[in-house]
Amino acid sequence: MTNDRPMAGSIPLTFVEPRTIPTYATDHPALDSFGRRIDYMRISLTDRCNMRCVYCMPAVGMQFAPRPELLTNDELLLVIRAAAAAGFRKLRLTGGEPTLRQDLVELIRAMKAIPGIEHIAMTTNALRLRRQAKALKEAGLDRVNVSIDSLDPLKFRQMTRGGNLEEVWAGITAADEVGLHPIKLNAVIVRGMNDDEVVALAELTTRHRWEFRFIEVMPLTGVAGLAEDGVVSSAELIARIEAHFGPLLPYGQDPADPARRYRIPGAPGKLGFISAVTDPFCATCNRMRLTADGRLHLCLLRDDEVDLRAAIRNGASQDDVEQIIRHAVQLKPWGHGLPEGILPTLRGMSELGG
Ligand code: 5AD
Ligand code: SF4
Repeated sequence: MTNDRPMAGSIPLTFVEPRTIPTYATDHPALDSFGRRIDYMRISLTDRCNMRCVYCMPAVGMQFAPRPELLTNDELLLVIRAAAAAGFRKLRLTGGEPTLRQDLVELIRAMKAIPGIEHIAMTTNALRLRRQAKALKEAGLDRVNVSIDSLDPLKFRQMTRGGNLEEVWAGITAADEVGLHPIKLNAVIVRGMNDDEVVALAELTTRHRWEFRFIEVMPLTGVAGLAEDGVVSSAELIARIEAHFGPLLPYGQDPADPARRYRIPGAPGKLGFISAVTDPFCATCNRMRLTADGRLHLCLLRDDEVDLRAAIRNGASQDDVEQIIRHAVQLKPWGHGLPEGILPTLRGMSELGG
């Protein structure tokens, strides 16, 4: 295993001086250097969380960014206006836990009003959703993904290091009631922890219209050890589910969706399998991430970043930021280096939001 930086062509950048980058035409959406259309931005609103999932954060030693390092609301909205001008159409709010961000409702309302932004989703642990779902929906949030790794309250508490499953269910119910549809539920499957619940989790889709997505645990900073022997491949999960329910039916694939989708015959809901480790989907990648401290993170599993915050705090205009975003799209690496043993080293999942 090596922690070498990615090779040339994906040199980590931390600061791009606006005057040093080429001028990009602004009348078309951003295609990256491999011809992929990049129009989906995942925005980490905070690196903090009210849970400590074992596959996301280490038990001790987490350091969170001091507040002045986070983008302010005005800076964040400037970035999103620039991104919309560069052709971004879909946003996902993540964290850490996005519902911990102050002024979340107002932020969503302002984001939804930006010309070009068509869709806003959020990935949440749902602990605060029971109280917030209605206001979020009214502000313009379209839908939510909720993490739920176990149906057993005790095991859930262990895997999340303190999460209350009852609150999460109440949050999911509230999201359902206010119409944050389609609701997707996520479970990161870790061998020896929750892989014995795969059939029970899949069974939820026989009773609800939800999409239940199984995610292979990825070796991000702070939890790489867990992924070493904790990965359960999607192929193995599908085999276990089929052993119980019979053959799964493939369900219309959306090329921009990393999940391979299936249905249990007769079920109203769907199953999704996200196989970043055993079957990467880099060829259809359509996304970039914005960290809470204002860096564009070009590939989840690489360290390459472009510093928008420094540019903004040095006086970059919205047009400048649009140019930097278009440039960052050009710098987006082809894909991750897990097969060659190249692991990301700079950021943990709690800073990148999945
Ligand atoms: N591997 C895969 N997915 C992860 N998530 C968090 N950590 C990991 C990991 N190591 C996912 C969780 C959560 C989302 C924010 O990121 O499913 O829903
Ligand atoms: Fe928090 Fe989500 Fe990470 Fe769990 S996976 S600790 S809920 S950010």
